[in-house]
Amino acid sequence: MGFRWLLRLSKAQSVTASFCWHGSQRRLFSATIVRRTIMSAWVVDKYGSNDVLRFTKNASFPVINYPNEVIVKVCAAGLNPLDVSMRGGYGAATLSMKRDPLNIQQSGSEFPLILGRDVSGVIMECGLDVKYFRERDEVWAAIPLWKQGSLAEFVVLSANEVSHKPKSLTHVEAASVPYVATTAWSALVNTGGLSKDNCGNKRILILGGSGGVGTFAIQMLKAWGAHVTVTCSRNAERFVRGLGADCVVDYTAGPVEEPLSALDKFDLILDNIGGDTECWALNLLKPWSGAKYVALVTPFLQNTDRLGIADGMMQTAATMACKALKHIVKGVHYRWGFFAPSGPALDEIRDIVDAGKIRAVVEETFSFSQVPRAFEKMEKGHARGKTVVQISDRADL
Ligand SMILES: NC(=O)c1ccc[n+]([C@@H]2O[C@H](COP(=O)([O-])OP(=O)(O)OC[C@H]3O[C@@H](n4cnc5c(N)ncnc54)[C@H](OP(=O)(O)O)[C@@H]3O)[C@@H](O)[C@H]2O)c1
Repeated sequence: MGFRWLLRLSKAQSVTASFCWHGSQRRLFSATIVRRTIMSAWVVDKYGSNDVLRFTKNASFPVINYPNEVIVKVCAAGLNPLDVSMRGGYGAATLSMKRDPLNIQQSGSEFPLILGRDVSGVIMECGLDVKYFRERDEVWAAIPLWKQGSLAEFVVLSANEVSHKPKSLTHVEAASVPYVATTAWSALVNTGGLSKDNCGNKRILILGGSGGVGTFAIQMLKAWGAHVTVTCSRNAERFVRGLGADCVVDYTAGPVEEPLSALDKFDLILDNIGGDTECWALNLLKPWSGAKYVALVTPFLQNTDRLGIADGMMQTAATMACKALKHIVKGVHYRWGFFAPSGPALDEIRDIVDAGKIRAVVEETFSFSQVPRAFEKMEKGHARGKTVVQISDRADL
């Protein structure tokens, strides 16, 4: 008589013990798989400038805590201006609450913190409920702000946040896309109501079109047939025209309101700049036509950092309501857009990329040992493409 005990933690790392009974004797004939507990990563132990970045070979190996999670072996990690801000503590109050909603842990429990919001890599392990992915699948993802990031050998993510990577891109190229792409998707599709089926006759203005979000938004909107006007500095004009922008206005040549006011009015404005822009830019929308202004620069995280969660959220809600009301009476919709990690959005973006309509714009690639240099470069700004860190040049497990 024989039977089998099976204790499953995940599909790959199942701890299997099989027993066989021979009379009164019991024999174990298959053993457990030993799993890793540590990995290499760049971590920060406190918020600050570049010198808080620390390389360690002893970072905790990610663990699957929910059956819909996957562990991804990181091949490449993309950096964004947000990583520089988060290194300095931006958003710490809200993100700490999200990591520890019951406020059980002591302050500073987020350390050692791993930055990096973009990942391209290979699935190493799947939770039991994961049906859409298998081990060794090549994937890309944008990582939620409250989760450990991709400047590490491995990262754990919900399967909903992950998507199969475009076949036409290398891992380094793929790692340059997810964060800006899911931000642009959230702003334009979820908040702005645009889709591939309704863009054909739309005029869109992107304020700040030469940065990460802008360059992706230009390409996606052109792939969907919209007419795209962009503001950027003079030396970025050729670059954004190369991505498909129909009309380019140089903000360094003087106030842009005048040249933009001379153009036909717009159906949607994506504002990557914020500040005073809102004082004049909403006048460029077609009134009483459902036209929308989607601002990506919002005070949400600054308010909660400055005032605490409750007061910061109330202040944010009041500001949002005032702005929306002020503009709705003039016949235009004012909205805020937010980064929203999404595997399904990346699935759709992958198809546009593989159709050759969106290209990855990588400005510089750094090795895993050069992460502080990559941050220094990000801090200088004015990039004409993304900064990517190659974590591993091997896509096998
Ligand atoms: N709400 C959210 O969840 C969310 C998510 C992602 C990003 N964001 C925000 O969205 C903004 C854009 O993000 P990003 O990653 O694209 O930033 P980025 O890569 O730094 O790009 C910003 C670009 O704006 C251009 N610029 C600066 N001042 C300008 C002006 N007055 N007029 C026109 N262009 C100007 C700069 O281009 P030049 O070199 O040509 O001067 C720069 O390339 C940032 O403020 C970021 O914080 C918000």
